[in-house]
Amino acid sequence: MALLDILVYPDPRLRNKALPVEVFDETVGKLVEDMAETMYAAPGIGLAATQVNVAKRIVVIDTSEHQDRLQVFINPVLTGMGELVETEEGCLSVPGVIVPVKRHSEVHISALDKNGEPFELHASGLLAICIQHEVDHLDGKVFVDYLSQLKRDRVRKQLLREGRSSGKSFDKRKEPVTAS
Ligand code: NI
Repeated sequence: MALLDILVYPDPRLRNKALPVEVFDETVGKLVEDMAETMYAAPGIGLAATQVNVAKRIVVIDTSEHQDRLQVFINPVLTGMGELVETEEGCLSVPGVIVPVKRHSEVHISALDKNGEPFELHASGLLAICIQHEVDHLDGKVFVDYLSQLKRDRVRKQLLREGRSSGKSFDKRKEPVTAS
């Protein structure tokens, strides 16, 4: 297992669109393991492959209280359901920034597991929010895109000034519980 470098906004590689996984070999299993280790170490509750500069549609999430229930979603397809709810989100690629974002309160998820087996899931609560945030990453979207241009520029300048865009300097100070 290995810790991977997490890209930090406004790194342009966060805009890459991830491609579906078609071959399920040991490289997929290794990547999933490394992504999980990286997410837990950050610490965060979700991580998309885009954030570690891999253009594959792979997401790892653990929203359990004790962070002992890893969920892996490969080639996830979401159907948003329920009302739109606003929650405060954080992101491992935008350290120290918390932004209110509106998302569906429930989602239906179709995905493959790390062995390529299809499964379906109905999610609500934090998992529903988190999976929407992560699939945005796979599509090259970062949650600050939901902000006004003015606020987004402020976040970008702040992170550039702090020199965090190297991707190396992500620290381990307490992040919001929803960092993903
Ligand atoms: Ni994120």
